[in-house]
Amino acid sequence: MLVSAKEMLDKAKAGHYAVGQFNINNLEWTKSILLTAQACNSPVILGVSEGAGKYMAGYKTVVGMVNGMLQELKITVPVALHLDHGSYEGCLACIEAGFSSVMFDGSHYPIEENIAKTKELVALCHEKGISIEAEVGAIGGEEDGVIGRGECADPKECKMIADLGVDFLAAGIGNIHGKYPANWEGLSFETLDAIQQLTGDLPLVLHGGTGIPTDMIQKSISLGVSKINVNTECQLSFAAATREYIEAGKDQQGKGYDPRKLLAPGAEAIKATVKEKMEIFGSVDKA
Ligand code: 13P
Repeated sequence: MLVSAKEMLDKAKAGHYAVGQFNINNLEWTKSILLTAQACNSPVILGVSEGAGKYMAGYKTVVGMVNGMLQELKITVPVALHLDHGSYEGCLACIEAGFSSVMFDGSHYPIEENIAKTKELVALCHEKGISIEAEVGAIGGEEDGVIGRGECADPKECKMIADLGVDFLAAGIGNIHGKYPANWEGLSFETLDAIQQLTGDLPLVLHGGTGIPTDMIQKSISLGVSKINVNTECQLSFAAATREYIEAGKDQQGKGYDPRKLLAPGAEAIKATVKEKMEIFGSVDKA
């Protein structure tokens, strides 16, 4: 059964480790991540962006697939199904469809509007036992190589949003989505420290987990990060393994074109990436 992400993240914060949110794109992704979490005895959060939700034929399809896998694969570790960077409408749709957690990303609104909308959604989610993440300080990113550092959130605004009763908070601390450009200046630990001073026990979320050096990951966990989002890194490992299979001509040998064979190296590569992250985040054996 899906669970809210609140309890697993409160435990992570108290235990000084982080739970990974791994974004899913299809059946192979979901199965690889769930099997790895089970093998590592680790809690896990499956992230679904609005685009990925649409790609997978809608939120209800996603809920059906994930719930089916939990049963059929006998997954017993805590699993949360979480909307990633949701709009207000997206959050409502996922609450309705059976997600156990949502993120409302109101970071592009003026702070007053972010507060008003977050407050409304907090009440709705908590009525149903669903956890909710909010965001302050937009986490930008594209591979244009221009960005030196992502936006840094205002700690006072973080405190205002934290006080609305959100279960965990994403705050920009120089992190960005996708690959980091060569001129990236790194995470702003001063910002993270200032945010944690004001938000206390609230678990903090680090987006853009792909490509952040291990020492920075560990330092951010020591400063209150309890959830780390990873998406691009699984995509890169999947693509590299698939490329290798095809370049070796294996799709043209025997029944190598069968999707169950063609997609297998990529699915294994995702497992390896997820395991490596769980080890770095410290969530192994914390189920
Ligand atoms: P990456 O794609 O950079 O790993 O970021 C994932 C993320 O933060 C999803 O919200």
